[in-house]
Amino acid sequence: CTWGLRAATLDLTSISGPAVVEQLLHLATFSDDPLPAVTRLIFTPNDMKARKYVKQLMKEAGLTIREDPMGNIYGRMHGSTKTTGAVVTGSHVDAIPLAGAYDGTLGVIGAIAALKALGEAGFRPEKPIEALMFTSEEPTRFGLGCIGSRGMSGALTVETLNDKLDVNGTSFQAASTAAGYGGKSHETILEGTRVKPGSIAAFVELHIEQGPRLEREGLQLGIVSAIAAPAALRVFFSGDGGHAGALLMPDRNDAGLAAAELALAVEKATLDAGAIDAVGTTGFLQIGPNSMNSVPREAKLEIDIRDIDAARRDRTVSSVLKSVEEIAARRDVRHRVEMINQDPPATCSQEVITAATEAAKELGASQKALVSRAYHDSLFMSQIAPTGMIFIPCRNGWSHRPDEFASAADIETGVKALALTLARLAGT
Ligand code: GLV
Ligand code: MN
Ligand code: MN
Ligand code: MN
Repeated sequence: CTWGLRAATLDLTSISGPAVVEQLLHLATFSDDPLPAVTRLIFTPNDMKARKYVKQLMKEAGLTIREDPMGNIYGRMHGSTKTTGAVVTGSHVDAIPLAGAYDGTLGVIGAIAALKALGEAGFRPEKPIEALMFTSEEPTRFGLGCIGSRGMSGALTVETLNDKLDVNGTSFQAASTAAGYGGKSHETILEGTRVKPGSIAAFVELHIEQGPRLEREGLQLGIVSAIAAPAALRVFFSGDGGHAGALLMPDRNDAGLAAAELALAVEKATLDAGAIDAVGTTGFLQIGPNSMNSVPREAKLEIDIRDIDAARRDRTVSSVLKSVEEIAARRDVRHRVEMINQDPPATCSQEVITAATEAAKELGASQKALVSRAYHDSLFMSQIAPTGMIFIPCRNGWSHRPDEFASAADIETGVKALALTLARLAGT
């Protein structure tokens, strides 16, 4: 039957904001830091506990579970047509150090809750619908974000994965294999993870906004139109160091000061881009030996540069690279640059935007279209499937901090909107 007839009879009252919050807060207990801080790095014991919990919820929702070699977890609700791609929804449960309980997790717990409610409402989709938990959206352990979705989309090469060791020198292959996933080599892992063409009909991700726009305007839902293009680079400076008292100023080549200058150059290059969408951050800066009476001989910076406009973002990156050369030459320090990633932006699919917009209207929820300045697994899913995102407000726009918070009411609206969006995309 047509959607309109179906929608009128879909009873989603089983979706309860407080119940979803309870599950999110239970998930938050699997943390390496004391609550309310959540720290959960990929393939650590707490990540394994979180995975077990996610699979338990999938089972309770009646979903059929499968996992790929990278540790992406799928829970499938079968469709009436066997020959079509699935409508997929999901996000991540890994958390950067001292993060909160909602980033990513909402899109996983909320996906399972949405599918469970659709099943309970007697909805029998034409296309299969899948709830998905991605491996390692955050770059913390292996230095690269969205490893799972990059792997699924084919955007990740063996060479790149070979390069990514954690702080203990452990490879992704070793860590994933120890966790019960993995395989013989990065090649076989990627082969087993890549999504077959056509097997995803549409992808949608529910997430907290991580910014203040919805809350400021008193809106319940954000329908994402595009995702800004992220780039990240690592810069090393090294000088000769020396005694802070004995080494006279003209005789120094201070790696720490080169780093300080570069951090300011990043800010300047970003501001010079002349657009509010251009952002640049030096979020990691380490000097060595990091001792008060020693001239710094080593410096390491990690720099994050993003923009909605990929060409403009690339010009900002080039300008920063020029500054590295110029500062190193002028200060007589050695330098090395590693490009971590330089990804294209995503334009969301009109089909998914329309489905989500209509879903929001059907709920009577206030909404607006907005751009996601944070990146998400959706960035990579958009390379292989029509993709969109639904945002809900979070308090003060805060995220990546322990006091990150979204209300049960907003969460309930978000999960209901997700369920209706999935129903529209999957058909009946
Ligand atoms: C995602 O965590 C991002 O850094 O945008
Ligand atoms: Mn995050
Ligand atoms: Mn996230
Ligand atoms: Mn993230």
